[in-house]
Amino acid sequence: MKTYLCQVDRVDPARSPCLREAASLLRSGGVVAFPTETVYGLGANAANDLAVERIFQAKGRPSDNPLIVHLSDASRISEWVDDAHPYVSRLAERFWPGPLTMVLPLKEGRISNKVTAGLSTLGIRIPEHPVARELISLAGCPIAAPSANRSGRPSPTLAAHVQEDLEGLIDAIVDGGPAGVGLESTVIELDEDRIHVLRPGGVNIEQLKDAIPEAYIISGTENISHTGEAPRAPGMKYTHYAPKGRMTVVLPKDLDKLDKADQAASYGAVVSYIRSELQRASEQGEKTGLLYFDEHTGDYHRCADVAISLGSLSMLETAAARLYDALRTFDQQGVKVIYAEGCAQEGVGLALMNRLQKAAGHQIVRR
Ligand code: TXA
Ligand code: MG
Repeated sequence: MKTYLCQVDRVDPARSPCLREAASLLRSGGVVAFPTETVYGLGANAANDLAVERIFQAKGRPSDNPLIVHLSDASRISEWVDDAHPYVSRLAERFWPGPLTMVLPLKEGRISNKVTAGLSTLGIRIPEHPVARELISLAGCPIAAPSANRSGRPSPTLAAHVQEDLEGLIDAIVDGGPAGVGLESTVIELDEDRIHVLRPGGVNIEQLKDAIPEAYIISGTENISHTGEAPRAPGMKYTHYAPKGRMTVVLPKDLDKLDKADQAASYGAVVSYIRSELQRASEQGEKTGLLYFDEHTGDYHRCADVAISLGSLSMLETAAARLYDALRTFDQQGVKVIYAEGCAQEGVGLALMNRLQKAAGHQIVRR
């Protein structure tokens, strides 16, 4: 299959004639990758069984992992889901359009049950990216879209990443430049006065707390309230975001207990450990990779074959935007052993550490 590439003006996407063609492909059952403010998505008409099936085939995705439905505006979500929970309108007001996915009770009948993998809930998100919004509104149908990577690979933050994974397997790629946040949306489920965070992402826990101060917020790892286990997003059980090399995340002991101002200075033992492990791998003839923060640039002179900065510890948004491209670069360069500095799990740091840990297959060292 030939994959058609559509270059779009990010600022004024309606001016790009190929966007109409991409929308008409979507309407007629095609699968089209497009940029969102989190990562690139692989879209299909959510009401069309065959089109949705093609997403699973192109990605090699297990059929028990449900897809998020993307709409161009929030005003009609009650056509697809029960939006009666009082937090829905408050969260929508505050975070939509944007990187928040709400998992809500499904209204039967209008969405292919391949989208929900047979669950009685549906994940809905209103993306903010101007290209995504224009494309969805031109298509005029709800768009089911997972991240546009082959299953298990890092999510794509550039059209070139989509080409790398899916060229020849999908109908079109809409290229609107770099995605934005760089990590996927936050997926939440509501249950009485609880907000379960099924996947940390572009909207962080502090922002959710600020929006609904009276809610108990429960995240998968750390139970912030007194209540039980969070129900998990089926997708979180699969290995994800993984580079081909063996990756280890190293972080200071007790990092999460330190004040922000003291964190950068607590990496001394982390740096020594990473340096000596990289040296050992290199002596064994392995090609090595390093992911580090700018504060420690001078400490790692010539320590790894491929060294990539995630930016400053004080600007973790930059790290989020760079992470997946960095993991793909290690693969392209044939890196076999990777060490990555970890960070504190606050703000966007929670989602960043979640992805780093998964990329490393939970291989974490504290020093
Ligand atoms: O930022 C994003 O969310 C991107 C862009 C394209 O919108 N999409 C994305 O989709 O990351 P995907 O399919 O790669 O990840 C969706 C996650 C999976 O872990 C899936 O299991 C979970 O959301 N999910 C979707 N529907 C769900 C539901 N009804 N109940 C529980 N989890 C659900
Ligand atoms: Mg994904």
